Amino acid sequence: MQSVLITGAAGGIGTRLRSLLRGVYPHLRLSDMKSPADLAADEEFVPADLADMAQVEKAVNGVEGIVHLGGFSVEGPWETILGANIVGCYNLFEAARRHGAQRIVFASSNHAVGFYPRQRRVGVGDMVRPDSRYGVSKAFGEALGALYAFKHGLRVTCIRIGNFADAPVDRRRLSIWLAPEDLAQLVRIGLEHPDIRYEIFFGASDNERGWWDNAPAFRYGYRPCGRAEDYVEAALAAEAQLPPDPVGDWYAGGPFCGDEFDGGIERSPI
Ligand SMILES: NC(=O)c1ccc[n+]([C@@H]2O[C@H](COP(=O)([O-])OP(=O)(O)OC[C@H]3O[C@@H](n4cnc5c(N)ncnc54)[C@H](O)[C@@H]3O)[C@@H](O)[C@H]2O)c1
Repeated sequence: MQSVLITGAAGGIGTRLRSLLRGVYPHLRLSDMKSPADLAADEEFVPADLADMAQVEKAVNGVEGIVHLGGFSVEGPWETILGANIVGCYNLFEAARRHGAQRIVFASSNHAVGFYPRQRRVGVGDMVRPDSRYGVSKAFGEALGALYAFKHGLRVTCIRIGNFADAPVDRRRLSIWLAPEDLAQLVRIGLEHPDIRYEIFFGASDNERGWWDNAPAFRYGYRPCGRAEDYVEAALAAEAQLPPDPVGDWYAGGPFCGDEFDGGIERSPI
């Protein structure tokens, strides 16, 4: 793998990931709607709005691998999600096919399966239960990835990122935390492992309170280094300051589930 494009490179994850992948791949190309604040003179940046196919094709042209982080990264109005995450994701996969890219690592989200109660252990074979329009867009991206993998021969890895941060900061995040170095490890599996055709991994570190069965990632050699329990005291102290959220505290998706929820927790399925 010589040349890799990172979309959403100006965002929180993109900024961190590009420093972690520096030197790993000889040629890293960055793309986003806005220029990364700390762009160095020797870094290549190709601006592109994901909703514009011609711009996306320019960004994709000539790369072998793509880490697709670009998009609207929280819940938002339908028109926003539609442009950045639905049309944008389609443009990215289709441009990759047209220009002969071989691999895509797609930043999916835990919010594709947010409506599972925290007490349920969920694997990648369980049906999606998006908790938001944003979560629906991530389920769409996973489905699109399967189409392009099985129909067009791309090698596609979807990572359902939990919460990317240096440390887990509350109770929910003790279960879903993803350390930056562990994301880099999962991304490298997606870009390099010879046996990848289409996989979904959970983007979670070594979290004792985790809710997800991440066996597929472990089968590909993933060995997370971040240990959420190392931060348990500070996280639970911060949790004590949070207001109760009966719906959000029940489901894995947290506040994304409680937001716009009709009715009360009594009708919650398990
Ligand atoms: N941060 C997390 O914990 C987390 C959790 C789950 C999933 N994810 C996913 O990982 C990816 C990166 O997350 P992040 O935290 O860095 O988000 P972020 O919002 O910091 O970065 C997203 C980037 O995408 C760019 N972008 C948005 N719309 C665009 C468009 N139409 N065209 C081109 N660029 C566009 C933005 O300018 C931004 O720089 C996102 O896809 C997000 O949904 C993140």
